[in-house]
Amino acid sequence: MAETAPPLGQHSAASGITCVKKLAESPDLNSIPSNYTYYTNPADTMASDPHDSIPTIDLSLLTSDNPDHRSKAIHDLDKACQEWGFFMVVNHGIPEELMRAVIDVTAEFFNLPEEEKPEFQPENVLEPIRYGTSFNTAEEEVFWWRDFLKVFVHPEFHCPHKPQSLRDVVMEYCKRNREVVRKLLKGISESLGIEESEMEKCLGLESSLQIFIANLYPRCPNPDAAVGIAPHSDHGLFTLLIQNQVAGLQIQHKGKWVHANPLPNSILVNTGDHLEIFSNGRYKSVLHRAVVNKTKARISIAVANGPSADTVVSPAPSLLQTQGCRPAYVPMKYKDYLLTQQGSQLNGKSILRRVQIQD
Ligand code: OGA
Ligand code: NI
Repeated sequence: MAETAPPLGQHSAASGITCVKKLAESPDLNSIPSNYTYYTNPADTMASDPHDSIPTIDLSLLTSDNPDHRSKAIHDLDKACQEWGFFMVVNHGIPEELMRAVIDVTAEFFNLPEEEKPEFQPENVLEPIRYGTSFNTAEEEVFWWRDFLKVFVHPEFHCPHKPQSLRDVVMEYCKRNREVVRKLLKGISESLGIEESEMEKCLGLESSLQIFIANLYPRCPNPDAAVGIAPHSDHGLFTLLIQNQVAGLQIQHKGKWVHANPLPNSILVNTGDHLEIFSNGRYKSVLHRAVVNKTKARISIAVANGPSADTVVSPAPSLLQTQGCRPAYVPMKYKDYLLTQQGSQLNGKSILRRVQIQD
């Protein structure tokens, strides 16, 4: 009998799999259990340093009153999104103490006793507060060496009620992230040659969906066999990432894996699937992954910034008109896209391929 897909919103992520933090803390753990072996060839986790350095975007220039500075910054942003899908933002205005605080308070959340966390482990993958491990253990046979906390923070703000300071810190950090994203998107609307108001309307930016994702990658006895997060692209427009000084993010550039080691206090930004769709393929979402290491636990905070959940996203109409080209992606409601992605096994750009129109 053919399997029927569960109704919308019913994809389950629950399972009896324990978090990797607990597993990593077992005193006699000398090697990873076989269901964490993702790479069988150690060379597969390797990456090189990029030959040309990762682009840097100076946010203060992007919003400068000086038209020459602004147009140079917009040109740089356009180039970074086209050639890399990835860049570091400097002069972003987010205080260093806030960036540190969000990482510290997240560590406190992961350090809560496991018995206190089941209330944050819902069945449904689109619940606004979700603590878990790997990506979607109900769908996976090989698990990732990563625990996570995913919280929907905009348009409605949610947050676990403990640790106590989590709420204020996450709220402020995510608000400041939205300000950065709005500035980047304004730059993008200019580089695409479309009105900012058209972009706002087409993407429903007033009620943009923002998801706060905290990732914990504990120390791992076999870092060249396990994976922290397998290669994937992000679903939204832009993801903003910071980390606790421990490296582990790799991005695919010109077909090769390269290390993404950020400048101190910069924010790493990557393009997501919906920027690719909206720009009709001008800005491709970038493949990236997280690797793990033997000596230091890593925490990263990835804030996913998308269109509004109920918006049906398609390539920008005026872009198609001025360029006289056909849409390369079929329209899809962002919420449905998200549900498909979160309810699947995450694998490269497989979800984006479903909406891509093949010539
Ligand atoms: C993510 C992600 C990478 C990292 O959360 O989507 O790609 O370095 N994280 O933690
Ligand atoms: Ni990602």
